[in-house]
Amino acid sequence: MSTNTVDNKRKVTTARLLDMKQRGEKIAMLTAYDYSMAKLIDEAGIDAILVGDSASNVMAGNMTTLPITLDQMIYHAKSVVKGTERALVVCDMPFGTYQGNPMEALASAIRIMKESHAEAVKMEGGAEIRESIERILSAGIPVMGHLGLTPQSINKFGTYAVRAKEDREAEKLISDARMLEEIGCFALVLEKIPAALATRVAKEVSIPVIGIGAGNGVDGQVLVMHDMLGINKGYSPTSPCSATPPGSASPSATAPWPWMPSTPSIHPSRFWAISPTSPAFSPPLPPSTCPTSSPSPVPPPTRSSPQNHKKHLVNTN
Ligand code: KIV
Repeated sequence: MSTNTVDNKRKVTTARLLDMKQRGEKIAMLTAYDYSMAKLIDEAGIDAILVGDSASNVMAGNMTTLPITLDQMIYHAKSVVKGTERALVVCDMPFGTYQGNPMEALASAIRIMKESHAEAVKMEGGAEIRESIERILSAGIPVMGHLGLTPQSINKFGTYAVRAKEDREAEKLISDARMLEEIGCFALVLEKIPAALATRVAKEVSIPVIGIGAGNGVDGQVLVMHDMLGINKGYSPTSPCSATPPGSASPSATAPWPWMPSTPSIHPSRFWAISPTSPAFSPPLPPSTCPTSSPSPVPPPTRSSPQNHKKHLVNTN
């Protein structure tokens, strides 16, 4: 949601996001998976829409993001593009469509661009997938990186806990972020890492760094729409900041970002997934609108109920 009201109707491009970073204007990004929601979000002035593979969780009820297919992502992205005029539409490349080899990655990205008309793709990982990213970039397809908690690797991590708390993992993340900048990614998502580390990365790289559960020292925030609206079954935060009754929220009335303090009730539940006492948490709203007390504890994930696998709602610090 650009704070730049002068040319607020102008189409958001990757270049414009870079420009926003340079001007110190914060970038707002939300997920959407269908035409109607994309239209609402776009009209509300959100800068970028992510057709996230979180569709696997919130649309299809899967335990993880792994099962969603390329065809399904293209279906969602196509619907979102139809509802969008201004926002940049970024589509996640689903698990298994880019890790194998660069040519397969390129073929997957080309299908996304040709069939959905999304304007960029997002890929999880660093050095391991460098060649695939480079191949896609060489075809003129903008790539957004994604480091930190990368849910397509949940079976390797074994937990949705905060990543990069240890020096070694933090160093690798910094070097991956620099590499993504160097090879030409237009932006980078940092998910669920300590706020201090995210702030450092945002300062060190020239491309926009969009955080989720990474504190507010970054260039923008991305939220899963369902988390923001609090419509995840089985998750009922007690904080008045996030206690928007299901169905009552309108994206045009939402502003979970710290630089939009005027908006009253909705709060990004994904931020509450991290205890305010943890190093990864930087309260996103001022104390006057958000209580400083901890949110109600959220049970750890189990394999028994899909809703507990809403990956970012889990307090695993
Ligand atoms: O799939 C998703 O929604 C994401 C996030 C960064 C929110 O990857």
